[in-house]
Amino acid sequence: MENTFLPSLEHLATAVILLDEQSRIAYFNPAAENLFALSSKNLIGHPVQHAFTDTGQLVAAIQQALTNNASYIKHDLMLGTYAHGKLHLRCAATPLQSDKHYLLLEFHPMDRPLKLAREEQMLDQTQANRLLLRNLAHEIKNPLGGIRGAAQLLEQELEKPSLREYTQVVIQEADRLRLLMEKLLAPQNVPHFSALNIHEVLERVRSLVLAERPKELVIERDYDISLPPLMGDKEQLIQVILNIVRNAAQAMQGQGTIILRTRIARQVTLIKKRHRLAIMVQVEDDGPGVPVHLRDKIFYPLVSGRPDGHGLGLTLAQDFVNQHQGSIEFDSEPGSTCFTVMLPLQ
Ligand SMILES: Nc1ncnc2c1ncn2[C@@H]1O[C@H](COP(=O)(O)OP(=O)(O)O)[C@@H](O)[C@H]1O
Ligand SMILES: [Mg+2]
Repeated sequence: MENTFLPSLEHLATAVILLDEQSRIAYFNPAAENLFALSSKNLIGHPVQHAFTDTGQLVAAIQQALTNNASYIKHDLMLGTYAHGKLHLRCAATPLQSDKHYLLLEFHPMDRPLKLAREEQMLDQTQANRLLLRNLAHEIKNPLGGIRGAAQLLEQELEKPSLREYTQVVIQEADRLRLLMEKLLAPQNVPHFSALNIHEVLERVRSLVLAERPKELVIERDYDISLPPLMGDKEQLIQVILNIVRNAAQAMQGQGTIILRTRIARQVTLIKKRHRLAIMVQVEDDGPGVPVHLRDKIFYPLVSGRPDGHGLGLTLAQDFVNQHQGSIEFDSEPGSTCFTVMLPLQ
């Protein structure tokens, strides 16, 4: 460690690894130990491949820097780590000319900005879609009244009563469409916030759903009862959790176990804002999982995997959660689906 620049690397917040001319690890600063949850003691002198599970892209970046004998920056470099799985990093590889040939690797985590950018894009797109749908629903609803009225008049003029079967179809379908359009146009209710206990919300949903499906459904509770009160609209939050739990119960065809979980979450970023504390609510089921072809779209209006579904339950849930500055996400595979709702405190 005779190098002059090592002491200054020691205190850097940036994760830094130094490689010798054989691409063996010569130095690993504390920030790198932290980021990769590795101890430098066991790594010095070993090839860089030993520290990670997947170094394909890293080795390519190192090659670039060595070939050009110039600094090479790779955005969105994927590195497989033992502690955290795949990490997305910005990596700068810089050849250093000192007494020996060293290569300096700097790592900056990218996960947060990437995820944030995706969330922002999603949010913008969702809002644009909602607007489009509302306008469309409005345009459809008006002529529907005319169609229904005309069918009624026609029915009165019909001589053969058997022909009413047809006018009835027109009237009933017009009614069904009108109901759907009204759901799409449901007024963006202004929420009424008050201090509430999230567990009251969950208990209410639990008893409602158990009353609908008394037999084979089990709803377990895994609550952190020390959670502080939350400022929120109780009716909206009941609707949010109810829509999620009902979906789970429907997916399991009423048979299986749903777990309602609450936890405190610290330092979370929710729709562009950082919060010190948030309440995390999870609804987990052991059903078949969200159909793969629907995974990117289930929050969109009118997207449903059920023949009698309207595809509005999760849209509404997302709207309501957004009105609480919160977020809603899910993870799903056959046998385990988990919806996570984050609600910021204050
Ligand atoms: N827990 C779950 N397990 C499996 N699929 C789910 C689950 N939750 C939601 N889904 C899928 O998402 C779709 C959309 O849900 P939602 O917006 O509530 O509309 P709807 O219930 O009217 O279909 C459902 O039809 C279903 O295919
Ligand atoms: Mg639903």
